[in-house]
Amino acid sequence: MHDQHTLTARIAGLGTFLPEKILTNKDFERMVDTSDEWIMSRTGIRERHVVGPEESVATLAIEAGRRAMADADVSPEEVELLILATATVEQPIPSTSAIIQPALGVKNATCFDIAAACSGFLYGLHIARQFMVTGEVKTAMVIGAETLSRYTDYTDRATCILFGDGAGAVVLKPAPSGEGILRSALHTDGTYADFIQMPGGGSKYPPNVKEHIDARLPFIKMRGNETFKVAVRAITEVCQEVLVAADVRVEQVDLFIPHQANLRIISAVGDRLGIAPEKVYLNLERVGNTSSASIPLAMQEAIDRGVLKRGNLVLMGAFGGGLTWAATLLRW
Ligand code: UT7
Repeated sequence: MHDQHTLTARIAGLGTFLPEKILTNKDFERMVDTSDEWIMSRTGIRERHVVGPEESVATLAIEAGRRAMADADVSPEEVELLILATATVEQPIPSTSAIIQPALGVKNATCFDIAAACSGFLYGLHIARQFMVTGEVKTAMVIGAETLSRYTDYTDRATCILFGDGAGAVVLKPAPSGEGILRSALHTDGTYADFIQMPGGGSKYPPNVKEHIDARLPFIKMRGNETFKVAVRAITEVCQEVLVAADVRVEQVDLFIPHQANLRIISAVGDRLGIAPEKVYLNLERVGNTSSASIPLAMQEAIDRGVLKRGNLVLMGAFGGGLTWAATLLRW
């Protein structure tokens, strides 16, 4: 029941979806000058799921959203807010959340998209929580969905091996303080905007100009090594920030679910935070970097494998294009 003493939001249901098609490191050995050994040792990724011709970011998001509503046992009409985080929109106009609204049946929901790249899911949780804190909304859905494969340059060995497609959704309900989301923090530094970007396809380099396509502008570009260094520092700091704000010691955290970008980034962050390696959840070996879908996908796997249990204190940290970074501490 929602009442005026509601002070936060809790995750009432979770649903995810991964497309069937898989690209392995062996497949990349045939596409670019790389090796399974290089990819595993530099990233920790072995395979990633990618969409087939009939799929798109909307089809992935719809399936994850339906599963989340079933898991939460809420009817579509109850959902008053739908926030979709994606860096790979269905089309520029209208929003992807509006496009998927009818299929989800969430006809009473205000729908909008947010662009915070790999931090998008944690940005979405934070925003949805604000609507609950004010009492404006009683049931919200946050979806992180990506089809990065549609914007990946499969001739660029430094980026193409990283990305995968997928979607994860949660249904949020109001909760008393001390349950659900305990604390979260969001940050942005646009001076690093060119570290991870897709220059083409927008207002500056419109998609309808052949030269822009020939120059491979509508593809994801990344200054990987520089991004790596900022990522380690930023995720560590924002995680420490929420732990301090919540007055929680790192030893009290039961599970750390980081954005799954690179095993070496995650290990470095875990070491700096002082979190035992067995408390760090990893699934990037099986899904690669799925940007805004990465944390809910990892969360679902952790539940399915019995690693994430009711009552656990969970820390989540993410980092991505913007640059953006964010952390959320929650009681599961
Ligand atoms: O999702 C959130 C944001 N994204 C990230 O957090 C990603 C952050 N960055 C990374 O994960 C890493 O920087 C990469 C995995 C992308 C690259 O690893 P790195 O250790 O930073 O490698 P590097 O870019 O410094 O490149 C080292 C060498 C280069 O060769 P030279 O110049 O030393 O001869 C690259 O050309 O590795 C080469 N290289 C490859 N070799 C084989 C780059 N990609 C590959 C590849 N296979 N796929």
